[in-house]
Amino acid sequence: MKLGIVILAAGQGSRMKSRLPKVLHRLAGRPLLEHVIDTAFALAPERVVVVYGHGGERVREAVADERLTWVEQREQLGTGHAVRQALPALEGLDRVLVLYGDVPLIRATSLQHLIDTTESALGLMTVNLHDPTGYGRIVRDEAGNVLRIVEEKDASGAEKAITEINTGIMLLEVARLKEWLGRLSPENAQGEYYLTDVIAMAVHEGVAIHVAQPADPVEAEGVNTRSQLATLERVLQRWQADELMERGVTLLDPARFDLRGTLEVGTDVVLDVNVVLEGEVVLGDNVRVGANTVLRNVRVDHDVAILENCVIEEAHIGPGSRIGPFSRIRPGTDLVGNAHVGNFVEIKNSTIGLGSKVNHLSYVGDTHMGAGVNIGAGTITCNYDGAYKHRTLIGDNAFIGSNTALVAPVTVGDGATIGAGSVITREAPAQKLTLTRPRQVTIEGWTRPKKEKKES
Ligand code: UD1
Ligand code: CA
Repeated sequence: MKLGIVILAAGQGSRMKSRLPKVLHRLAGRPLLEHVIDTAFALAPERVVVVYGHGGERVREAVADERLTWVEQREQLGTGHAVRQALPALEGLDRVLVLYGDVPLIRATSLQHLIDTTESALGLMTVNLHDPTGYGRIVRDEAGNVLRIVEEKDASGAEKAITEINTGIMLLEVARLKEWLGRLSPENAQGEYYLTDVIAMAVHEGVAIHVAQPADPVEAEGVNTRSQLATLERVLQRWQADELMERGVTLLDPARFDLRGTLEVGTDVVLDVNVVLEGEVVLGDNVRVGANTVLRNVRVDHDVAILENCVIEEAHIGPGSRIGPFSRIRPGTDLVGNAHVGNFVEIKNSTIGLGSKVNHLSYVGDTHMGAGVNIGAGTITCNYDGAYKHRTLIGDNAFIGSNTALVAPVTVGDGATIGAGSVITREAPAQKLTLTRPRQVTIEGWTRPKKEKKES
């Protein structure tokens, strides 16, 4: 049986009160819609169709995925109307699974269960909720057979008391669906073509409605408001945290951990509270990350300690390095290994050689630094002349005295020593002491000015 998947993503999401289309709001760093697309492809269908409308091109551009078939729904006339727009794109397929772009936590295993257990022309995913407000209710007869779905706005008092709700997720035979959709009418409280009305039609034709439930009811929760988005964010973060702990990562508090991307980890990785990982992050064996640290697209080798309050972005941290607290490492930085980067140090687009130390209050930018270098507190590479950026080269075992300005382009030779407080504008030769400050003098006979006492 050839399976197609339709993801409904045309709604405006007015309750988000946003200019951004709802399905582009982010969950764990990625648009809601991308979560559903990933889950859809995990089921290995023949085709995945996304029905888009509100925010049109923006949605297509944001989720540029060549495997997708896009179908526009110009006017949002309801979920049934939306699925009807997708019918031409389902040509040649036997069954279609309908997913919602704003129900991002549904798991592939729960959907596979629905697919595997549905033998009739219509499978439906439902859940029981303590508070079913807002959802379509599943109406059953005395024998427990599903009769129809009634939307909240069309429900009687008795129907509103039903706690079994429609997740919106349905599996249908394409040929039957085509027929049923042609017969939908918008005679209801919202004046919309409801996909849910096909249930009663199927029942009328003697189709036994098959019902499956997801492993966890939270999988069925939709995002209609920012509050629901925040709730689902914590759910997903907790799932990710549990999975990492399963893989041997220590999280000092799994409730205060955020992964917005992918994380590859070695053994005995320890993450303190409020660590935020974004993009693609790799942490090798025995890596410790201190509280309140943000890592964005960073590769960290084994035996590295990143202390509290660091921000590291698009960088490589070689083995045995120690960073922070309060270090900022910007894109294009490579700490080769055993490096020390200390407090209030900013490094950008630079290589820091093996065992080199930049321990306090420095800016190092566009620099190639050899091994065994010691950079004194307050050293600044002046890499920008107002128009162009220039490079600084520092040889192995150089020693830069505190409060030095290295005015690029400039080279400091191997083993060179720079006297504290220097402004280096020309090459500092290897193995020699170079300094630019005037000699210290003492002025004999000088006295401090004194205030004269006024005579009264
Ligand atoms: C829908 C179901 C309801 C179910 C609930 C689960 C219907 C009539 N109701 O209600 O039974 O309990 O979902 O979350 O199906 N969309 C379009 N085009 C449209 C209208 C909607 O693409 O013209 C998309 C939306 O972007 C969204 C999804 O369909 O992804 C659901 O639409 P929404 O308006 O949120 O439906 P609900 O009122 O939540
Ligand atoms: Ca909804």
